[in-house]
Amino acid sequence: MKEKQAIRVTLLLSFLVLVTSGKGIRYKRYGEDNTRVLPYRQVKKTIQMKGGDVYDCIDVNAQPSLNHPRLKNHKIQMQPSSFPFGLDMESQLPHSVSEVQPYIVDCPIGTIPIIRNNRSGNVEHNIDGVSSMDIQTEAAGMRYYDVVYGARAIINVYEPRVNKDSKDLSATWLQINNGGGEHTDRIGAGVEVNPSFSGDTFVRFHISWTDGLYKKSCLDHSCPGFVQVDHKSGLGARLQHVSVYGGRQYAMRLSIFKDPKSKNWWVAYGTKNTPFGYWPSTLFSFLNYKGDFVFWGGFVQGPTVSSNAPQMGSGHFASEGYGKAAYIRNAQILNENNKYVTPDGNVKVDHGTSNSTLYTVDKFEVDTPGMSIYYGGPGSVV
Ligand SMILES: *[C@@H]1O[C@H](CO)[C@@H](O)[C@H](O)[C@H]1NC(C)=O
Ligand SMILES: *[C@@H]1O[C@H](CO)[C@@H](O)[C@H](O)[C@H]1NC(C)=O
Repeated sequence: MKEKQAIRVTLLLSFLVLVTSGKGIRYKRYGEDNTRVLPYRQVKKTIQMKGGDVYDCIDVNAQPSLNHPRLKNHKIQMQPSSFPFGLDMESQLPHSVSEVQPYIVDCPIGTIPIIRNNRSGNVEHNIDGVSSMDIQTEAAGMRYYDVVYGARAIINVYEPRVNKDSKDLSATWLQINNGGGEHTDRIGAGVEVNPSFSGDTFVRFHISWTDGLYKKSCLDHSCPGFVQVDHKSGLGARLQHVSVYGGRQYAMRLSIFKDPKSKNWWVAYGTKNTPFGYWPSTLFSFLNYKGDFVFWGGFVQGPTVSSNAPQMGSGHFASEGYGKAAYIRNAQILNENNKYVTPDGNVKVDHGTSNSTLYTVDKFEVDTPGMSIYYGGPGSVV
């Protein structure tokens, strides 16, 4: 018990603490590899959002991600060198579904919005990970097992209920891995409710990754590494709308793809496939050139998942179908020719749930525009 507590304290201390003083901003990082206070350039602009979120617009070249030891001489890539080929997803959204995006923050060009958030909370995002005593995981969705250079999907956005005081999270997630066992690099993006990280129970846009060599997980800018270039939207941003059970449905396009020239892993979202930012290839030991696993689906993770599991997706079982259960559609992988293709659903793909009492999957289909599935459930209904 004592040991566990000690581990937790160390974890807490090893994340970025954001210290604001006057107009300037400093990122203070505790931990063995960096105990200095890193001085930060002036905040160009501070933007207060309607819901209370506060963003600082920081010079894109002075972003905290660049403090990663492997990014010492990294030159920021402002645009992907090219976009993957493939059927335009624009035509793929049913009329009854509206596109949703993270809130527009609109920092000046040349800066990026970084949300003010002191918290370190739950940053683990290992849907394939082995559950430990401290962190349990349940997942429901689709998995692909072979070489990939990216993946994409349209995800139905809901706001699953998660106990505000728990350290659990509930996410709709797109994840790419490479490696095996403990030595697995992971990158992921999606929407999630993560109260111990964001301080509330709103669904927000996040990215995460695991450094398989140092076995360290990071969420958003909680540790350096992910390079953001989008000046209009921030990590941890709320979504403009969320779907209503039995009512209006909202969905978001999301993709992660490897830049064929720079080898960086880009995250893009929205109708216009807006490049949000990237993980530099040099960040990884196993994911440098390609991935070997993809997950699309819902997952919940945290210390009380086994005793009091949060909702996943809409909080309703997959069998309820359209408008009531959450779905993922147009799920595709990026092949070696930089083209999005639908994986062979019979061979390299499986779909399912880790615990069908809590969460289910239904209506798995493989079609030309991609694979689709309904997933989710109420968790432990008390
Ligand atoms: C961060 O912590 C400071 C000091 O504890 C507090 O005043 C501030 O409200 C916190 N900010 C957020 C966004 O939680
Ligand atoms: C599924 O979850 C329920 C409720 O938490 C639990 O009782 C059951 O043992 C779990 N089943 C498996 C296969 O893990």
